[in-house]
Order: sequence, then structure tokens, then C-alpha cells
Amino acid sequence: MLHPRILVAKTADEAGVLAANEFEAVIAKKPAAVIGLATGSTPLPLYRELIAREKAGKIDFSKVRSANLDEYKGLAPTHEQSYRKFMQDNLLDHISIKPENTIVPLGQAEDIQKMCEEYEAKIEEWGGVDCQLLGIGHDGHIGFNEPEDHFPAMTHEVQLTEMTIDANKRFFESIDDVPRAAITMGIGTIMAARKIVMIVTGADKKEILKKTFWGPVDPQVPASILQFHPDVTLICDEAAYPFN
Ligand code: PGA
Repeated sequence: MLHPRILVAKTADEAGVLAANEFEAVIAKKPAAVIGLATGSTPLPLYRELIAREKAGKIDFSKVRSANLDEYKGLAPTHEQSYRKFMQDNLLDHISIKPENTIVPLGQAEDIQKMCEEYEAKIEEWGGVDCQLLGIGHDGHIGFNEPEDHFPAMTHEVQLTEMTIDANKRFFESIDDVPRAAITMGIGTIMAARKIVMIVTGADKKEILKKTFWGPVDPQVPASILQFHPDVTLICDEAAYPFN
């Protein structure tokens, strides 16, 4: 088993700054880097920092390509709660990345299987993901890879668990509006990234974080597979760090 490189920040905002250092370094070395992006509350401080750094001339996103982890099934890209819209609002519209260089799975694809295959093919055509950002769900999911009896390899459709639907209802008018299915990069897609940066903040994530890196590798804790990845940087705040 491999242990991640661990950076412990005082606050969630500082975790965003530390994560921005990782992405800045990747892009400085490779201006056309392929970065894997994530949604949720956790990456927001990072995205604010990345926008500020490009404005300050420290990062140049004009050649960068981005691929998102996941999307709700059935939501149009313009839907207020779609992950495409989240990415536009919180990062992509505020940096110089070219629209054609950003991909998010299409929630409304007619042929989901075909769209998933094309998604994988695009990432491959780009030469693979250089640096993949991850958060973690309370059940150990990464992307929308929920606890299962195996680790799914490729981009695919998933049924969301009650825990995830409940966690995400805060963004919707009512729990009934939360989509029941999603499209997500597979565990194999994620593991193929050359470098992984995982941000975990808040005391409510402490327990799952401990299970992820200091428990058995088990598809019931999907993120635990990261113990087999050779280049994981875990950035957590003091509240989430399991050994405080
Ligand atoms: P959060 O979501 O950042 O909103 O906690 C993380 C996740 O579910 O992967």
C-alpha cells in the first residue's frame, strides 16, 4: 500500500491555496496540461484561487484542457444544478481556457454508452489526465463512483445512493428534484491520471478520510483504491485530518 503525500492546512481556504500550488506547478511545466476537475463545495476555494492567480499573471489557462469527473443524468448543460453550469459559473467562465478544450459528460445524451466511450476516447486523444482533482463523499465515493462490490473501470452511468441524494438535496428545491442517476468517470479512468490531488475539508469527512487511506482497500469505500496510486497529494484541513 502506498501512503499519500499529506499537506494539512489550517482552514478550507488555505487548503484551496495549497491545491492551487499543485495545479500551478503542473501547468507551468506543461502549458497544455489536461486537468481533471470536480464539483461540490470542497473545490470552491481552489477555483477562486486559480481565477485570482491567472488575473495576477501566475497561471495561463489558454492552452489547458479540462475534463470533469461527472454529471447528473438528464440535466441540460444550462440547468442551474448541472455540473457543466457549476463549472462555467465557478471557474471556466473566469479563466482563459478555450470552451472547446473543456469537457463534462453530457447528462442528456441519447446514447449514454456511446457518449461514455467518446468521453474516454477524448481523454485518450488528449494524452490522458495530468492532474486529477478529487473530493470525497461521506460514503467514500469519488466522482459518482458509489460503494459497490467491484471497482468500475470506465466512464459509465450510475444510480445514486440515498446518502448522496440526501447530501446533494441542499442544491435543489426539494429532494424529489435531485436526479437519481449520473454519469461518472470510472475508477479506472481516475486511476489512470498521472497525478491526483484530493482535497478533504471539514470534521464530517474525518472518519471517511481515515478509512480511505488507513483502512483496507475495499470497493465499499471506492476512494480506498487510491492506496494503489503512486502519486496522490492529500490536502486536508485540520478539522478533517484524522490524527489530530
Ligand atoms: P462536497 O462533495 O465537496 O460538496 O462535500 C464531495 C463529493 O461528494 O465528492
